[in-house]
Amino acid sequence: MANIDWKKLTFGYTKTNYNVRTYFRNGSWGSLELSSEETINIHMAATALHYGQEAFEGLKAFMGKDGKVRIFRWEENAKRLIRSAEGILMEAVPEELFKKAMIKVVKHNLDFIPPYGTGSSLYIRPLLIGSGPQVGVKPASEFLFIIFVTPVGPYFKEGFNPVDVQIVRDYDRAAPKGTGHLKVGGNYAASMRAGVRAHDEGFASSLFLDAKTKTFIDEAGPANFFGIKDGKYITPESHTILPSITNMSLQSLAMDMGLKVEKRPIAVDELESFTETGACGTAAVISPIKKIYDRENGKTYEYCKDGKAGPICTKLYKTLQDIQYGDAEDKYGWITFIE
Ligand SMILES: Cc1ncc(COP(=O)(O)O)c(C=O)c1O
Repeated sequence: MANIDWKKLTFGYTKTNYNVRTYFRNGSWGSLELSSEETINIHMAATALHYGQEAFEGLKAFMGKDGKVRIFRWEENAKRLIRSAEGILMEAVPEELFKKAMIKVVKHNLDFIPPYGTGSSLYIRPLLIGSGPQVGVKPASEFLFIIFVTPVGPYFKEGFNPVDVQIVRDYDRAAPKGTGHLKVGGNYAASMRAGVRAHDEGFASSLFLDAKTKTFIDEAGPANFFGIKDGKYITPESHTILPSITNMSLQSLAMDMGLKVEKRPIAVDELESFTETGACGTAAVISPIKKIYDRENGKTYEYCKDGKAGPICTKLYKTLQDIQYGDAEDKYGWITFIE
């Protein structure tokens, strides 16, 4: 077992023993290399470095009370990486190769999976980059696929406690017909100024609006947004939003709880009418939202008036975490065990 204070882990990088890598060269994927190097040797004209030809994923492995390691819905991450690759003209990583690499890297880092009960997990970070050289703006002909893992604690320092978020109107994360629906690095570069400013101004995250009309809720930084009212779980649907696997899962659980699910644009004005709101994603699972502050006009929308997460957010969070840690039945078949 690695010498780590599991309960103090934040969402950051901790070195582990191994990562796995493979190159796509001359029309085919090579063999998977197990590496203990944290660095990569890369051509200075690689398209990833100049033109942002890169995509990544994020998923987690959980240690159960029974000592079994569970990976949550990796097939969805593999499919999303394929969509990201195709969207920016990279060689897609076949699902089987993704699975093989993921299992290999997790198996070689078992000592770094946080024990059951610590609230932490092993974050799995697949990365696909254009490694071949180009000087003109063209796709590479060589690609590097890496998966590394790192043990993580909560994404927001608040954990499951409610957070404040800030509506931004002077920056956009994604263009209307751009790459917002893909998990590619450029979207994250575009979101950093607003995210860091939100942080500096005391907010956990920025809340982006649709770039074209600034009328509808887009994404809560690196997480999807949802609101609850009148027995409904409502979440925005748009080409500029990354289809969150956590959000998809919460929609199934919400329906199990008897809620109706609506996927449609959510106008900023509608924020008034929600009884609960939250941001969801692999990293945070759910961050219940306490306050949404519109930076431009000072308007404030408040939830969790008693300082605690609302009942529906709490139930959704607990139900999802129980499936992930193996404390509840996996009736949807979302879990893959590492044998
Ligand atoms: C922009 C963005 N939206 C939403 C999410 C949540 O997606 P998921 O639930 O698949 O982690 C993420 C994180 O992956 C993200 O980066």
